[in-house]
Amino acid sequence: MAEVYDRPPEKFKLRLRRYDPESGDAPYWDEHTVELEPHRSVLEAVLQAKDRYDGSIGIRCSCRQAICGSCGVRVNGEPALACHTHLDAAKAGAREGVIEVEPMGNMSVIKDLIVDMDAVHWKKIQRVTPWLIAKQPVPEREYIVSKESMVDVTQTMACIQCGACVSDCLAMEVDPGFIGPAALAKAYRFVGDPRDDQQFERLNDLAQDPQGIFDCTHCFKCVEACPKDVNPMGQIMRLRRIATSDHHIVDQNNGERHEAALTGLVRDYGLLHEAELIPRSYGGNSWFAKFHPAAGKELLSSLPTALKGVLRGKIGLKTAVFGHKIPSRDLKAVQSIYDKIESRPERYELNLYIAGEDEQLEKPSGDAVAAAVTHESGGKEPDTTEQGGRA
Ligand code: SF4
Ligand code: SF4
Ligand code: FES
Repeated sequence: MAEVYDRPPEKFKLRLRRYDPESGDAPYWDEHTVELEPHRSVLEAVLQAKDRYDGSIGIRCSCRQAICGSCGVRVNGEPALACHTHLDAAKAGAREGVIEVEPMGNMSVIKDLIVDMDAVHWKKIQRVTPWLIAKQPVPEREYIVSKESMVDVTQTMACIQCGACVSDCLAMEVDPGFIGPAALAKAYRFVGDPRDDQQFERLNDLAQDPQGIFDCTHCFKCVEACPKDVNPMGQIMRLRRIATSDHHIVDQNNGERHEAALTGLVRDYGLLHEAELIPRSYGGNSWFAKFHPAAGKELLSSLPTALKGVLRGKIGLKTAVFGHKIPSRDLKAVQSIYDKIESRPERYELNLYIAGEDEQLEKPSGDAVAAAVTHESGGKEPDTTEQGGRA
Protein backbone atom coordinates (compact mmCIF):
# COMPACT_ATOMS: atom_id res chain seq x y z
CA MET A 1 0.00 0.00 0.00
CA ALA A 2 2.81 2.36 0.93
CA GLU A 3 4.26 2.28 -2.61
CA VAL A 4 0.97 3.63 -4.00
CA TYR A 5 1.52 6.83 -2.03
CA ASP A 6 5.30 6.94 -2.74
CA ARG A 7 4.93 7.36 -6.48
CA PRO A 8 6.36 10.64 -7.77
CA PRO A 9 4.19 13.31 -9.44
CA GLU A 10 3.20 12.68 -13.05
CA LYS A 11 1.67 14.79 -15.78
CA PHE A 12 -2.05 14.32 -16.40
CA LYS A 13 -4.05 15.88 -19.21
CA LEU A 14 -7.49 17.19 -18.29
CA ARG A 15 -10.34 18.11 -20.66
CA LEU A 16 -12.86 20.24 -18.80
CA ARG A 17 -16.32 21.06 -20.05
CA ARG A 18 -16.72 24.81 -19.77
CA TYR A 19 -19.99 26.70 -20.00
CA ASP A 20 -21.20 30.01 -18.67
CA PRO A 21 -24.91 30.42 -19.53
CA GLU A 22 -24.73 34.12 -18.69
CA SER A 23 -22.08 34.75 -21.36
CA GLY A 24 -24.31 33.62 -24.21
CA ASP A 25 -21.40 31.53 -25.61
CA ALA A 26 -21.79 27.85 -26.46
CA PRO A 27 -20.19 25.18 -24.21
CA TYR A 28 -16.64 24.16 -25.14
CA TRP A 29 -13.78 21.91 -24.03
CA ASP A 30 -10.76 23.35 -22.27
CA GLU A 31 -7.49 21.38 -21.89
CA HIS A 32 -4.86 21.71 -19.15
CA THR A 33 -1.90 19.61 -18.06
CA VAL A 34 -1.44 19.21 -14.32
CA GLU A 35 1.29 17.53 -12.32
CA LEU A 36 0.33 15.46 -9.28
CA GLU A 37 1.00 12.08 -7.65
CA PRO A 38 -1.18 9.41 -9.32
CA HIS A 39 -3.10 8.61 -6.13
CA ARG A 40 -4.32 12.22 -5.87
CA SER A 41 -7.88 12.97 -6.91
CA VAL A 42 -9.51 14.42 -10.01
CA LEU A 43 -10.77 17.22 -7.77
CA GLU A 44 -7.19 18.13 -6.81
CA ALA A 45 -6.27 18.14 -10.51
CA VAL A 46 -9.13 20.50 -11.36
CA LEU A 47 -8.20 22.75 -8.45
CA GLN A 48 -4.57 22.81 -9.60
CA ALA A 49 -5.68 23.82 -13.11
CA LYS A 50 -7.86 26.52 -11.56
CA ASP A 51 -5.03 27.69 -9.34
CA ARG A 52 -2.27 27.69 -11.98
CA TYR A 53 -3.96 28.43 -15.29
CA ASP A 54 -7.51 29.74 -15.08
CA GLY A 55 -9.15 30.98 -11.91
CA SER A 56 -12.54 31.14 -13.64
CA ILE A 57 -13.00 27.34 -13.76
CA GLY A 58 -16.15 26.54 -11.78
CA ILE A 59 -16.37 23.44 -9.57
CA ARG A 60 -18.18 22.90 -6.28
CA CYS A 61 -16.40 21.15 -3.40
CA SER A 62 -16.06 21.19 0.34
CA CYS A 63 -14.90 18.19 2.39
CA ARG A 64 -12.58 16.60 -0.22
CA GLN A 65 -13.15 13.20 1.38
CA ALA A 66 -16.38 11.82 -0.09
CA ILE A 67 -18.60 12.99 2.74
CA CYS A 68 -20.30 16.25 1.79
CA GLY A 69 -21.52 15.23 -1.70
CA SER A 70 -20.62 18.60 -3.26
CA CYS A 71 -18.21 17.52 -5.99
CA GLY A 72 -20.43 15.30 -8.15
CA VAL A 73 -19.30 15.40 -11.79
CA ARG A 74 -18.91 13.04 -14.73
CA VAL A 75 -15.42 11.63 -15.21
CA ASN A 76 -14.92 10.05 -18.65
CA GLY A 77 -18.69 10.03 -19.08
CA GLU A 78 -19.45 8.23 -15.80
CA PRO A 79 -20.92 9.87 -12.67
CA ALA A 80 -18.36 10.20 -9.88
CA LEU A 81 -17.27 12.22 -6.90
CA ALA A 82 -14.26 14.19 -8.16
CA CYS A 83 -12.61 13.96 -4.73
CA HIS A 84 -13.06 10.20 -4.62
CA THR A 85 -11.64 9.38 -8.06
CA HIS A 86 -7.91 8.76 -8.23
CA LEU A 87 -6.03 10.23 -11.18
CA ASP A 88 -4.39 6.93 -12.16
CA ALA A 89 -7.78 5.17 -12.23
CA ALA A 90 -9.33 8.06 -14.21
CA LYS A 91 -6.45 7.97 -16.72
CA ALA A 92 -6.82 4.20 -17.15
CA GLY A 93 -10.46 4.73 -18.17
CA ALA A 94 -9.77 7.77 -20.36
CA ARG A 95 -9.88 7.97 -24.13
CA GLU A 96 -6.39 8.68 -25.53
CA GLY A 97 -5.14 9.23 -21.99
CA VAL A 98 -7.04 12.51 -21.52
CA ILE A 99 -9.27 12.66 -18.45
CA GLU A 100 -12.60 14.26 -19.34
CA VAL A 101 -14.54 16.05 -16.61
CA GLU A 102 -18.08 17.25 -17.30
CA PRO A 103 -21.02 18.48 -15.22
CA MET A 104 -23.62 15.93 -14.07
CA GLY A 105 -26.62 15.18 -16.29
CA ASN A 106 -30.36 15.82 -15.81
CA MET A 107 -29.63 19.16 -14.09
CA SER A 108 -28.97 22.48 -15.77
CA VAL A 109 -25.49 23.96 -15.63
CA ILE A 110 -24.92 27.05 -13.50
CA LYS A 111 -21.28 27.34 -14.48
CA ASP A 112 -18.78 24.81 -15.90
CA LEU A 113 -18.91 21.78 -13.57
CA ILE A 114 -21.52 23.23 -11.20
CA VAL A 115 -25.13 22.15 -11.75
CA ASP A 116 -28.35 23.52 -10.31
CA MET A 117 -29.02 21.04 -7.48
CA ASP A 118 -31.73 23.31 -6.00
CA ALA A 119 -33.97 23.28 -9.04
CA VAL A 120 -33.94 19.50 -9.47
CA HIS A 121 -32.42 17.43 -6.71
CA TRP A 122 -33.40 19.38 -3.61
CA LYS A 123 -36.85 20.17 -4.99
CA LYS A 124 -37.49 16.45 -5.37
CA ILE A 125 -36.17 15.71 -1.91
CA GLN A 126 -38.64 18.25 -0.49
CA ARG A 127 -41.42 16.51 -2.44
CA VAL A 128 -41.20 13.35 -0.29
CA THR A 129 -41.66 15.05 3.12
CA PRO A 130 -38.10 14.28 4.24
CA TRP A 131 -38.66 14.25 7.94
CA LEU A 132 -40.13 11.88 10.52
CA ILE A 133 -43.80 12.30 11.37
CA ALA A 134 -43.66 10.87 14.85
CA LYS A 135 -46.15 8.26 16.09
CA GLN A 136 -48.29 9.59 18.92
CA PRO A 137 -48.10 9.68 21.82
CA VAL A 138 -44.40 10.46 21.82
CA PRO A 139 -42.82 8.37 24.60
CA GLU A 140 -41.52 10.16 27.63
CA ARG A 141 -38.06 8.75 26.94
CA GLU A 142 -36.82 7.32 23.61
CA TYR A 143 -38.74 5.13 21.10
CA ILE A 144 -37.53 1.54 21.32
CA VAL A 145 -36.79 0.26 17.83
CA SER A 146 -35.37 -3.11 16.73
CA LYS A 147 -31.77 -3.16 15.57
CA GLU A 148 -32.74 -4.76 12.22
CA SER A 149 -35.17 -2.01 11.26
CA MET A 150 -32.67 0.71 12.08
CA VAL A 151 -29.86 -0.96 10.13
CA ASP A 152 -32.31 -1.34 7.26
CA VAL A 153 -32.93 2.42 7.04
CA THR A 154 -29.26 3.14 7.71
CA GLN A 155 -28.57 2.18 4.10
CA THR A 156 -30.62 5.13 2.88
CA MET A 157 -29.16 7.37 5.59
CA ALA A 158 -25.73 6.74 4.07
CA CYS A 159 -26.81 9.00 1.17
CA ILE A 160 -24.63 12.10 0.92
CA GLN A 161 -27.00 13.84 -1.55
CA CYS A 162 -24.37 14.06 -4.27
CA GLY A 163 -26.90 13.72 -7.12
CA ALA A 164 -24.91 11.08 -9.04
CA CYS A 165 -27.97 8.82 -9.26
CA VAL A 166 -30.13 11.71 -10.45
CA SER A 167 -27.51 12.54 -13.07
CA ASP A 168 -27.73 9.07 -14.60
CA CYS A 169 -31.40 8.22 -14.13
CA LEU A 170 -32.81 7.12 -17.49
CA ALA A 171 -36.43 7.62 -16.44
CA MET A 172 -35.68 11.19 -15.42
CA GLU A 173 -34.06 11.83 -18.78
CA VAL A 174 -37.36 10.98 -20.47
CA ASP A 175 -39.61 12.40 -17.75
CA PRO A 176 -37.88 15.22 -15.81
CA GLY A 177 -40.86 15.28 -13.43
CA PHE A 178 -40.07 11.76 -12.12
CA ILE A 179 -39.43 12.02 -8.39
CA GLY A 180 -36.20 10.16 -8.99
CA PRO A 181 -33.82 7.80 -7.22
CA ALA A 182 -32.35 10.00 -4.49
CA ALA A 183 -35.68 11.38 -3.31
CA LEU A 184 -37.36 7.97 -3.39
CA ALA A 185 -34.48 6.46 -1.42
CA LYS A 186 -35.04 9.26 1.08
CA ALA A 187 -38.75 8.37 1.12
CA TYR A 188 -37.86 4.79 2.07
CA ARG A 189 -35.80 6.14 4.94
CA PHE A 190 -39.08 7.24 6.60
CA VAL A 191 -41.41 4.56 5.21
CA GLY A 192 -39.05 1.94 6.68
CA ASP A 193 -38.75 3.70 10.03
CA PRO A 194 -41.07 2.07 12.57
CA ARG A 195 -41.36 5.39 14.43
CA ASP A 196 -43.06 7.10 11.47
CA ASP A 197 -46.82 7.51 11.67
CA GLN A 198 -47.60 7.97 7.99
CA GLN A 199 -46.40 4.83 6.22
CA PHE A 200 -49.67 4.25 4.33
CA GLU A 201 -50.15 7.93 3.45
CA ARG A 202 -46.60 8.26 2.16
CA LEU A 203 -46.87 5.08 0.06
CA ASN A 204 -50.30 5.93 -1.30
CA ASP A 205 -49.04 9.36 -2.32
CA LEU A 206 -45.95 7.96 -4.07
CA ALA A 207 -47.92 5.17 -5.76
CA GLN A 208 -50.75 7.38 -7.06
CA ASP A 209 -48.35 10.03 -8.39
CA PRO A 210 -47.85 9.36 -12.15
CA GLN A 211 -44.21 10.36 -11.60
CA GLY A 212 -43.79 8.31 -8.44
CA ILE A 213 -42.56 4.81 -7.61
CA PHE A 214 -44.04 3.19 -10.72
CA ASP A 215 -42.23 5.60 -13.06
CA CYS A 216 -38.89 3.87 -12.39
CA THR A 217 -37.86 1.61 -15.29
CA HIS A 218 -35.63 -0.64 -13.18
CA CYS A 219 -32.54 0.17 -15.25
CA PHE A 220 -29.93 -0.14 -12.45
CA LYS A 221 -28.13 3.08 -13.47
CA CYS A 222 -28.62 4.66 -10.05
CA VAL A 223 -27.28 1.54 -8.34
CA GLU A 224 -24.09 1.71 -10.40
CA ALA A 225 -23.73 5.48 -9.98
CA CYS A 226 -24.07 5.67 -6.19
CA PRO A 227 -20.74 6.10 -4.38
CA LYS A 228 -22.26 5.11 -1.03
CA ASP A 229 -24.04 1.85 -1.89
CA VAL A 230 -27.44 3.33 -1.11
CA ASN A 231 -29.00 1.18 -3.86
CA PRO A 232 -31.79 3.67 -4.72
CA MET A 233 -33.49 1.25 -7.12
CA GLY A 234 -33.62 -1.37 -4.39
CA GLN A 235 -35.28 1.15 -2.08
CA ILE A 236 -37.85 1.96 -4.78
CA MET A 237 -38.61 -1.75 -5.19
CA ARG A 238 -39.09 -2.02 -1.42
CA LEU A 239 -41.50 0.92 -1.51
CA ARG A 240 -43.44 -0.87 -4.24
CA ARG A 241 -43.52 -4.17 -2.36
CA ILE A 242 -44.74 -2.58 0.85
CA ALA A 243 -47.32 -0.51 -1.06
CA THR A 244 -48.72 -3.46 -3.00
CA SER A 245 -48.16 -6.54 -0.83
CA ASP A 246 -48.63 -5.04 2.63
CA HIS A 247 -51.07 -2.18 2.03
CA HIS A 248 -52.73 -3.55 -1.13
CA ILE A 249 -52.61 -0.12 -2.76
CA VAL A 250 -53.99 -0.25 -6.30
CA ASP A 251 -52.69 2.85 -8.04
CA GLN A 252 -54.22 4.89 -10.81
CA ASN A 253 -51.09 4.38 -12.95
CA ASN A 254 -51.67 0.63 -13.31
CA GLY A 255 -48.31 0.00 -11.66
CA GLU A 256 -49.67 -2.61 -9.24
CA ARG A 257 -51.67 -4.38 -11.99
CA HIS A 258 -48.71 -4.28 -14.36
CA GLU A 259 -46.42 -5.95 -11.82
CA ALA A 260 -49.05 -8.55 -11.00
CA ALA A 261 -49.51 -9.26 -14.73
CA LEU A 262 -45.78 -9.57 -15.30
CA THR A 263 -45.18 -11.97 -12.41
CA GLY A 264 -48.34 -13.93 -13.30
CA LEU A 265 -47.20 -14.36 -16.92
CA VAL A 266 -43.73 -15.55 -15.95
CA ARG A 267 -45.34 -18.06 -13.62
CA ASP A 268 -47.67 -19.31 -16.39
CA TYR A 269 -45.21 -19.34 -19.30
CA GLY A 270 -41.75 -19.45 -17.67
CA LEU A 271 -40.87 -16.35 -19.73
CA LEU A 272 -42.63 -13.06 -20.33
CA HIS A 273 -45.50 -13.21 -22.84
CA GLU A 274 -45.33 -9.64 -24.15
CA ALA A 275 -48.60 -9.69 -26.11
CA GLU A 276 -50.54 -10.61 -22.97
CA LEU A 277 -48.84 -8.04 -20.75
CA ILE A 278 -50.80 -4.98 -21.85
CA PRO A 279 -54.28 -6.54 -21.73
CA ARG A 280 -53.62 -8.13 -18.34
CA SER A 281 -52.19 -4.88 -16.98
CA TYR A 282 -55.35 -3.01 -17.95
CA GLY A 283 -58.12 -5.58 -18.05
CA GLY A 284 -57.32 -7.92 -15.15
CA ASN A 285 -54.84 -10.73 -14.64
CA SER A 286 -56.43 -13.43 -16.84
CA TRP A 287 -56.59 -14.59 -20.46
CA PHE A 288 -59.98 -12.83 -20.82
CA ALA A 289 -58.43 -9.44 -20.05
CA LYS A 290 -58.08 -8.65 -23.76
CA PHE A 291 -61.84 -8.29 -24.06
CA HIS A 292 -61.96 -5.57 -21.39
CA PRO A 293 -62.62 -2.09 -22.94
CA ALA A 294 -59.67 -0.49 -21.11
CA ALA A 295 -57.33 -3.18 -22.43
CA GLY A 296 -58.70 -2.86 -25.98
CA LYS A 297 -57.86 0.84 -26.08
CA GLU A 298 -54.28 0.23 -24.90
CA LEU A 299 -53.85 -2.72 -27.27
CA LEU A 300 -54.91 -0.61 -30.24
CA SER A 301 -52.50 2.18 -29.31
CA SER A 302 -49.60 -0.30 -28.99
CA LEU A 303 -50.31 -2.07 -32.31
CA PRO A 304 -48.00 0.14 -34.44
CA THR A 305 -45.05 -0.58 -32.09
CA ALA A 306 -45.77 -4.31 -32.10
CA LEU A 307 -46.07 -4.35 -35.91
CA LYS A 308 -42.76 -2.52 -36.25
CA GLY A 309 -41.13 -5.17 -34.04
CA VAL A 310 -42.52 -7.99 -36.19
CA LEU A 311 -41.54 -6.28 -39.48
CA ARG A 312 -37.99 -5.66 -38.23
CA GLY A 313 -37.64 -9.27 -37.11
CA LYS A 314 -37.39 -8.43 -33.44
CA ILE A 315 -40.39 -10.61 -32.57
CA GLY A 316 -41.64 -13.64 -34.48
CA LEU A 317 -45.36 -13.51 -35.33
CA LYS A 318 -46.00 -16.90 -33.69
CA THR A 319 -44.21 -15.92 -30.47
CA ALA A 320 -45.99 -12.56 -30.45
CA VAL A 321 -49.39 -14.25 -30.60
CA PHE A 322 -48.86 -17.45 -28.60
CA GLY A 323 -45.95 -16.49 -26.32
CA HIS A 324 -42.74 -18.35 -25.58
CA LYS A 325 -42.70 -22.08 -24.98
CA ILE A 326 -40.12 -23.61 -22.73
CA PRO A 327 -39.72 -27.34 -21.90
CA SER A 328 -42.23 -28.40 -19.25
CA ARG A 329 -39.40 -29.48 -16.92
CA ASP A 330 -38.03 -25.90 -17.00
CA LEU A 331 -41.48 -24.42 -16.55
CA LYS A 332 -42.00 -26.59 -13.45
CA ALA A 333 -38.63 -25.41 -12.09
CA VAL A 334 -39.71 -21.76 -12.53
CA GLN A 335 -43.06 -22.46 -10.87
CA SER A 336 -41.39 -24.21 -7.95
CA ILE A 337 -39.49 -20.98 -7.22
CA TYR A 338 -42.83 -19.16 -6.99
CA ASP A 339 -44.25 -21.90 -4.74
CA LYS A 340 -41.26 -21.73 -2.43
CA ILE A 341 -41.36 -17.95 -2.10
CA GLU A 342 -45.12 -17.71 -1.77
CA SER A 343 -45.27 -20.43 0.87
CA ARG A 344 -43.12 -18.40 3.26
CA PRO A 345 -45.08 -17.12 6.24
CA GLU A 346 -43.75 -13.63 5.65
CA ARG A 347 -41.90 -11.79 2.90
CA TYR A 348 -38.14 -12.04 3.16
CA GLU A 349 -36.34 -8.88 2.07
CA LEU A 350 -32.83 -9.69 0.90
CA ASN A 351 -30.77 -6.84 2.21
CA LEU A 352 -27.08 -7.33 1.49
CA TYR A 353 -26.39 -4.24 3.52
CA ILE A 354 -27.28 -6.01 6.74
CA ALA A 355 -26.77 -9.73 6.01
CA GLY A 356 -23.24 -10.91 6.72
CA GLU A 357 -20.78 -12.55 9.03
CA ASP A 358 -20.96 -9.75 11.54
CA GLU A 359 -24.57 -10.65 12.17
CA GLN A 360 -23.47 -14.04 13.54
CA LEU A 361 -20.93 -12.63 15.94
CA GLU A 362 -21.93 -11.58 19.38
CA LYS A 363 -21.24 -7.91 19.67
CA PRO A 364 -22.35 -5.28 22.10
CA SER A 365 -25.53 -3.91 20.51
CA GLY A 366 -24.05 -0.41 20.37
CA ASP A 367 -21.44 -1.22 17.71
CA ALA A 368 -23.38 -3.93 15.92
CA VAL A 369 -25.03 -1.51 13.55
CA ALA A 370 -21.84 0.25 12.52
CA ALA A 371 -19.91 -3.02 12.23
CA ALA A 372 -22.44 -4.65 9.95
CA VAL A 373 -22.72 -1.59 7.76
CA THR A 374 -18.97 -1.13 7.38
CA HIS A 375 -18.49 -4.80 6.54
CA GLU A 376 -21.14 -4.90 3.84
CA SER A 377 -20.15 -1.63 2.20
CA GLY A 378 -16.69 -2.97 1.47
CA GLY A 379 -15.14 -0.74 4.12
CA LYS A 380 -16.57 2.45 2.64
CA GLU A 381 -17.79 3.61 6.03
CA PRO A 382 -21.22 5.05 5.35
CA ASP A 383 -22.50 7.36 8.04
CA THR A 384 -24.66 5.78 10.67
CA THR A 385 -26.12 9.11 11.64
CA GLU A 386 -27.87 11.53 9.40
CA GLN A 387 -25.73 14.30 10.78
CA GLY A 388 -22.74 12.60 9.13
CA GLY A 389 -24.14 13.23 5.66
CA ARG A 390 -26.83 15.75 4.87
CA ALA A 391 -30.17 15.28 6.54
S1 SF4 B 1 -33.48 2.19 -11.68
FE1 SF4 B 1 -35.19 3.64 -11.74
S2 SF4 B 1 -34.60 5.33 -10.40
FE2 SF4 B 1 -32.74 4.12 -10.84
S3 SF4 B 1 -31.80 5.16 -12.58
FE3 SF4 B 1 -33.10 3.54 -13.43
S4 SF4 B 1 -35.10 4.52 -13.80
FE4 SF4 B 1 -33.92 5.90 -12.45
S1 SF4 C 1 -28.38 7.82 -3.41
FE1 SF4 C 1 -26.18 7.67 -3.74
S2 SF4 C 1 -25.87 8.64 -5.74
FE2 SF4 C 1 -27.88 9.23 -5.05
S3 SF4 C 1 -27.60 11.20 -4.04
FE3 SF4 C 1 -27.45 9.60 -2.44
S4 SF4 C 1 -25.27 9.10 -2.31
FE4 SF4 C 1 -25.55 10.24 -4.21
S1 FES D 1 -15.73 17.48 -1.82
FE1 FES D 1 -16.17 15.55 -2.69
S2 FES D 1 -17.73 14.78 -1.42
FE2 FES D 1 -17.11 16.57 -0.41
